[in-house]
Amino acid sequence: MIDDFSDLTKYLSGKSRLRYVIFHVSSCSSTQDLAMSLFEQGYGEGLVVLSEEMSSGRGRLGRSWTATPGGLWFTLVLTPPKPTNLQILSLGVGSSVAKALKELYGLNAVVKWPNDVLVNEKKISGVLIEGKKKLSIALFVGVGVNVNNEIPEELKEKAVSIKEVLTRQVSRAPLLARILQEIEETYSKLLEEKTDEILREWRSLAGTLGKKVKVVTGEEVIEGVAVDVTSDGSLIVVDRAGIRRVIYSGDVTHLTQFPN
Ligand code: BTN
Repeated sequence: MIDDFSDLTKYLSGKSRLRYVIFHVSSCSSTQDLAMSLFEQGYGEGLVVLSEEMSSGRGRLGRSWTATPGGLWFTLVLTPPKPTNLQILSLGVGSSVAKALKELYGLNAVVKWPNDVLVNEKKISGVLIEGKKKLSIALFVGVGVNVNNEIPEELKEKAVSIKEVLTRQVSRAPLLARILQEIEETYSKLLEEKTDEILREWRSLAGTLGKKVKVVTGEEVIEGVAVDVTSDGSLIVVDRAGIRRVIYSGDVTHLTQFPN
């Protein structure tokens, strides 16, 4: 399918406060790296680096990210004027993607803490936020969505694309525009310190709350039931011994039942 990203301004026109500059390349190591180097060269807030494929795509927790043609792989640069809660932004970006997928295609998209987006328990999107300090802090909001790309065989059990769920290809430009609009809304709320609203929305889209989970943190593996998130976006799990645990960073797996 031919995707015309020059159409993007049509989808964004009149609706955005951020001034977007779209940098579209056929390939790069990682859109995060390219955005960082363009930022060093003077590009600022609103820069969107979009690549058709990446040779060293990065995921959360030091993992790699497979980015073959047909997917939506981009990094948005934000330069918040004051210190912002990164964890809340990261939850809000996950909600933004889930909301866009629900509203554009009617997908039953849910967020797995902190910001993976799942459809039928398979990952359709992931979010990575990295920071860089120059004079002030710049945030590099990386979003990957499996759209029309083929999911590699070894990932098929865990990942899915929009094409596979809808059994048709979709155009990526309106999707990108919609996700950017949703992220912009979240970002405005964050700057206005309306974190409660971001968390309320996250809870309404969450697939993790009420579920049995396994959480792998840097230090330990916790099994329990995910009950809520704190006001700073940490996950609250009541472990199998009935103890309330608060997790700031980790890898969550949804379980159907606890292992013996
Ligand atoms: C994760 O789920 O682990 C996060 C995946 C983030 C992938 C996106 S694709 C665009 C941006 N560039 C990267 O190298 N990674 C992010």
